Amino acid sequence: MSPKNMVTDVERPCVAPSILSADFGKLAQEAADLERLGPGVLHVDVMDGRFVPNITFGPGVVSALRKAVELPLDVHLMIVEPERHVDAFVRAGADLVTVHCEATQHLNRLIQQIHGLGAQAGVALNPATPLYAIEEIISDLDLLLIMTVNPGFGGQKFIDSGRNKIARARTLLDKAHSSALLQVDGGIGPDNAADIVERGADCLVAGSALVGATDRLAAMAAMTAAIRSASALP
Ligand code: DX5
Ligand code: ZN
Repeated sequence: MSPKNMVTDVERPCVAPSILSADFGKLAQEAADLERLGPGVLHVDVMDGRFVPNITFGPGVVSALRKAVELPLDVHLMIVEPERHVDAFVRAGADLVTVHCEATQHLNRLIQQIHGLGAQAGVALNPATPLYAIEEIISDLDLLLIMTVNPGFGGQKFIDSGRNKIARARTLLDKAHSSALLQVDGGIGPDNAADIVERGADCLVAGSALVGATDRLAAMAAMTAAIRSASALP
């Protein structure tokens, strides 16, 4: 197995294009094109038709993406019983595996399992799941994912109550002296990226507004400009 990229080493704040909005008929080419936009990581959405209504792909596709790009792969598992599959996704080349806290009975054990496989571990919270669900495992996290849509599909509207939750998540991570990446996923584009970063997000997943854009270069430039304006980078 090749050495893992450390997702936590990415420049913050960063953009994570979601492969979900790419053309599945030419995924390797699409991934390589996205890599040239200069994002921090590539966000890979795995759906099983049970935890979420939609079905995407499994470890075989992750393995093909691994061969297509050098970018860190952040694999977002929207599947039931993730403990049965994390091994296959790490072997396929996932650098970081994010599991939903709603999808497992034993979150602590699952995080240790992912770390034991040599990958970094993230935990995602659905919009209706309170932040306290991760309080007891916060120091074990490499990434905390706040969902700002109900997972399952690209192109949905950003849920506004997520704004306050992002700020509270930032406070929680800072209080715990955690260096975990605070990632936000769902309904993000150039129009709301600045506000999301101002509230403390480190990594913005963007599907339809970036990968689905007719002009991806312009969309990436708009996202980057919004992020820079918020984080006061030069
Ligand atoms: C949704 C996925 C997202 C999706 C976001 O369940 O987890 O990563 O690709 O797509 P947009 O940016 O279009 O909301
Ligand atoms: Zn996602």
